[in-house]
Amino acid sequence: MGIKYFEDEKVFKLDSKDASYVIALVDEEQFAGHAYYGKKISDYHVRHLMRLNENPFTPSQNERERVSFNDLFAFEYPTFGVGDFRETCLKVRNKYGAAACSLVYKSHKIYAGKPALAGLPATFGSESECETLELTMTDPILKLDVTLVYTVFEDNSAITRSARIQNLAEDDIYLTNALSMCVDLEGLNYEMINLHGSWARERHIDRHPITHGKHRIDSSRGESSHQDHPFIAVMTPETNEDVGEVYGFNFVYSGNFMAQAEGCQFETTRVVMGINPDTFTWKLATGEEFICPEVVMVYSDAGLGKMTRSFHDLYRNHLIRGEYKDKKRPILINNWEATYFNFNTEKLLSIAKEASSLGIEMLVMDDGWFGKRNDDNTSLGDWQVNEEKLPGGLKNLVDEVNKLGMKFGIWFEPEMISPESNLYREHPDWAIQIPERTAARCRNQYVLDISRKEVRDYVYNMVKTVLQSSNIEYVKWDMNRPLSDLGSFALPADRQGELSHRYMLGVYEMQERLINDFPHLLLENCSGGGARFDAGMLYYSPQIWCSDDTDAIERLSIQQGTAMIYPLCSMGAHVSDCPNHTVGRSTPFRTRGHVALAGTFGYELDVTKIPAEDRAMIPEQVAMYHKYNDLVRTGDYYRIANYSENRTFDCYEVVAKDQSEALVTIVEVTRRANFKSRRIRLKGLQPDAVYENEDTKERYTGEILMYAGVQCPDTWGDYISNLMHFVKVN
Ligand code: DGJ
Repeated sequence: MGIKYFEDEKVFKLDSKDASYVIALVDEEQFAGHAYYGKKISDYHVRHLMRLNENPFTPSQNERERVSFNDLFAFEYPTFGVGDFRETCLKVRNKYGAAACSLVYKSHKIYAGKPALAGLPATFGSESECETLELTMTDPILKLDVTLVYTVFEDNSAITRSARIQNLAEDDIYLTNALSMCVDLEGLNYEMINLHGSWARERHIDRHPITHGKHRIDSSRGESSHQDHPFIAVMTPETNEDVGEVYGFNFVYSGNFMAQAEGCQFETTRVVMGINPDTFTWKLATGEEFICPEVVMVYSDAGLGKMTRSFHDLYRNHLIRGEYKDKKRPILINNWEATYFNFNTEKLLSIAKEASSLGIEMLVMDDGWFGKRNDDNTSLGDWQVNEEKLPGGLKNLVDEVNKLGMKFGIWFEPEMISPESNLYREHPDWAIQIPERTAARCRNQYVLDISRKEVRDYVYNMVKTVLQSSNIEYVKWDMNRPLSDLGSFALPADRQGELSHRYMLGVYEMQERLINDFPHLLLENCSGGGARFDAGMLYYSPQIWCSDDTDAIERLSIQQGTAMIYPLCSMGAHVSDCPNHTVGRSTPFRTRGHVALAGTFGYELDVTKIPAEDRAMIPEQVAMYHKYNDLVRTGDYYRIANYSENRTFDCYEVVAKDQSEALVTIVEVTRRANFKSRRIRLKGLQPDAVYENEDTKERYTGEILMYAGVQCPDTWGDYISNLMHFVKVN
């Protein structure tokens, strides 16, 4: 690992664990250009790749073709308005109403460690774990500085990027686009993966060729969203799990984003990522600074699998924080699918009593415990306990649950306000809305203007009061609608475009306060299922609810897409009742347990009502969780077969970091007639070690398991799953 500046070539060479990234300065003009990104190299002589000595030549050699040069050069942080007609990172509006900007080198510094990004989530690392380059560029006419921040890690091939934009002029300037990163890749022969979805089918893997033109995914919903995800991978066409060059880009941000790969005229591919400019402007007053959120870039020379494992390691070691970072999470039972709004203390205690006798460790009370909330039409914002439902109050319920030896968790939706609530009657202007226009409702609710400090303080204090009233050890923080009708009563007209980003900064501030005030609390983020399952949220909560779709088969695709970047320890996954409430499918209880095991594991059903044979299986599943969770939480994840592709079966494996054991999950989704037992090939084992299949006691070398394979248990019927646990014996 390391970052060096080589004066002879005027290049900065950034080396992470096994990738190199090189930036070159152009002599006369002092532009910063992108020279190389890929497999780790020891040599730094890559300047010849910059095409500085070919037509149209640099402006100092050929001023008449400056525009042509700007439209070809691989700018490290391209700017709008001076001839680069590809997507650019920075666009401004100055006192003349003009947008042009052009950046030249000003200074740099290289230092051990990694700076925090004020008010924003970001990866972190100590001085011995990472090194940072701050490359300050300036537009001398606008007096605008842009500091590009790059960090490399000792233990990971990731490189992170962000940017700080500072106005040193005497006039205000408006940022109308401020993306976080750009990389120009040589060639146009790439494919792209993005994670597409909808409510209840989030983050399905989508793969397609990159052709000429812009391939953009984005969100303007005020959340990272169910529909598109702030991640793209750009890869060579032969790429599979084990082969191919892959560049993965993930935004550490939970609001509006854009991610784009653009096939350009000279057969290069420009990749950019940052805050969605469609819903963004920012007024930067004299001396003020704007921070563009962080992008994580991961290069893999060995396919998608290696990219995934780099993201998992980075997020487990350098993003997730707090007491539960490396800890097994309590097995919870959530009452949402069990009761929806129809519950009271007696009902919850009956669930808790049965659950605790089966080994479940925490009861989570979901939506419906406050105000007059007996359906989803009312009371968001009135965070006072409904004593009709919970006679004796919250403390009574929590104490009774604790007496059963269980922890207690609670649901909130702090960012929302129901038109039918005391809060709305008192503060109608606290809802996001535009004067003279009736704001559009969604789930019959409005969004609170979390960009306003007085609103944040008021709501946060209500949440805090509830949390201090009893022994609450877990919070599910939900958010059930996108942002529309963007308008804040607290912002002047020329700052209305700041609302979406200010909203996100407000959410981050509230969650930071929460985890500081309650350091032992386990926080799980959620957004109508998985609309805010993103790296930004992972900085605050070690786990996130993956999807409202708890069907085991639907979950195969959702969890596989999510695990493309996020570690299994972060995926909220529960066993629910059948027929499944979202798709009406009935799957065996055993399969539901196996699939949920790939996440944080819990239950979402009325344990007093499910069939006795299912209930009887719970202690077994609980034991299985305790047995395998250390491995699942900390191990290396390998995709073996993807049901969304083959439409027959799904298979994945988790291997211990020291290769001492491996757990394979295989789900035969549709059984084929007259078919023999399936053979799979394992991955990531030690070739010369001997592994024993814990069930059959058969022994194999790692090389046989990986190169020849192993027969899976034969199955009969649809939706049948099996676990195969291999333990190294010598
Ligand atoms: C959406 C969540 O994803 C569900 O789990 C549940 O908490 C509901 N909201 C409650 O309104």
